[in-house]
Amino acid sequence: MPKLSITSKPVQDAVGDIIVIPVDTTLDIASEILVLAKKVQFAGQWGRAEIFVSPKGFSTPFVAVVGMGSPEVSDAKRNEGIRRGVASIILDGRAHMLRNISIAIPRIDILDAVVESVLLTDYWFTQHSVLMKQEQKSRSLESVTLHVASKQDIAVAKRIVQRTEKAMAAVTLTRNLVNQPASHMSPRVLVTEAKKIEKKSPSISLTTMNRKQAEKKNLSAFLAVARGSTEEPYAIHLKYTPKKKAKKKIVLVGKAITFDSGGLSLKPANSMENMKIDMAGAATVLGLFSLLPELDLDIEVHGIILACENMPSGDAYRPGDVIPTMSGKTIEVLNTDAEGRVVLADALTYGLTLKPDAMIDLATLTGAMVVALGDTYAGLFGNNKELNAALMQSAEIAGEGLVEFPLPEEYRPTIQSRVGDVRNTSMMKMGGAITAALFLQEFVGPSTGSGQAVAWAHIDIAGPVYAEQPLIPYWQFGATGYGVRTLVRFVEGYGK
Ligand code: BES
Ligand code: MN
Ligand code: ZN
Repeated sequence: MPKLSITSKPVQDAVGDIIVIPVDTTLDIASEILVLAKKVQFAGQWGRAEIFVSPKGFSTPFVAVVGMGSPEVSDAKRNEGIRRGVASIILDGRAHMLRNISIAIPRIDILDAVVESVLLTDYWFTQHSVLMKQEQKSRSLESVTLHVASKQDIAVAKRIVQRTEKAMAAVTLTRNLVNQPASHMSPRVLVTEAKKIEKKSPSISLTTMNRKQAEKKNLSAFLAVARGSTEEPYAIHLKYTPKKKAKKKIVLVGKAITFDSGGLSLKPANSMENMKIDMAGAATVLGLFSLLPELDLDIEVHGIILACENMPSGDAYRPGDVIPTMSGKTIEVLNTDAEGRVVLADALTYGLTLKPDAMIDLATLTGAMVVALGDTYAGLFGNNKELNAALMQSAEIAGEGLVEFPLPEEYRPTIQSRVGDVRNTSMMKMGGAITAALFLQEFVGPSTGSGQAVAWAHIDIAGPVYAEQPLIPYWQFGATGYGVRTLVRFVEGYGK
């Protein structure tokens, strides 16, 4: 991690390799830089970034500008432009080993976006690679100096930097867990990670169940999926209890398939290559829990993670099987590769027993979601307008792409089973992300008759959690940590 420091010295006097200056379309910058900017048609456009050899009078060899767009753009949009622009400069600078950077902070409300960008971009997963260790050693950032506008800004800047550093440590944890190959990431390892989080703070408690204990709780759908693997499955239940009396209670559920081979409905080899990422939902929940004690909120938060591997074997669950669930409903398994929804059925039922005000699940649930949205957006499904709206707004502020999808009543018959209660795949070819969400909805309480379903939202994160080819400059190859920053904003706003 680079050393971050704050100063109110003018940025022209900065030491180091490069000065980065965010500018909007009013182009309020030194005339020597303006001359250079004009030569390349840089006019403060949103997300644009340019590096120049410094004009005379500047103390560093290079100077860069980052476009914030028009002064009228929303704060969320401006901040995302800054994240992307600062990241591009860091990456271009990295190629030339510019490792000590100074960044002008003309307005304090962009500081957290700047710090986010720096720490997201300077992320390295080097554990298993000699080459990547060398690269990090020679090219990672050494120091980042943040030049605030005045002395009065220093104290508030310090608080923002501290808070953002902690939040980015949570994102880093999530990225590390997702990047870890299945050879090193079993349900057991997720238990170890949950224990580490529990140990760090008295406000967090942890309950875990192995296969035998989960049987007693009737987590039968979960155990049906787990059966094909020799890895012991574990149910993980984290609880955050606030210091003050809790105003609200939320349950966060994370899909935790530590490797998805498809099971007997085996995936083709190339579709399996990245299936270590199928526990990203759980990693996102763990990332958030690692931060919760620092946030000091007055809501109770539960994290439910049913972790197992989806493997074929002589004891694996089969296509055509009818399996019981904790809810009492039976699932007709048509395809063992639609395992996420089967496990989540029990996770959501378990979550319901906690009687939350809201329940949110995060899951790398369907390839269909990636077909619909590509690599940078996740899909949001839910039965509650206010909850959906709060999540949409949190994602926007975080700069994480999220799109609301419908849960059409008329698609429900396509998952009706004639052998059991619900099919785990739809009879309709298209709309697979939606029909998967409709399946989950079967397990969040009564949808017909009397009784009220819990406010529930499902986020299908299959696309953005892993970047084969990073389309956003602050996303490095591999795990992106998508979802953590949205959840942080969401829990901060919830119950207020
Ligand atoms: N884990 C996969 C979904 C996935 C695909 C995540 C690509 C990330 C990237 C999920 O368990 C799965 O296999 N879904 C199937 C469902 C189908 C059999 C109905 C899919 O999407 O193909
Ligand atoms: Mn699958
Ligand atoms: Zn899966």
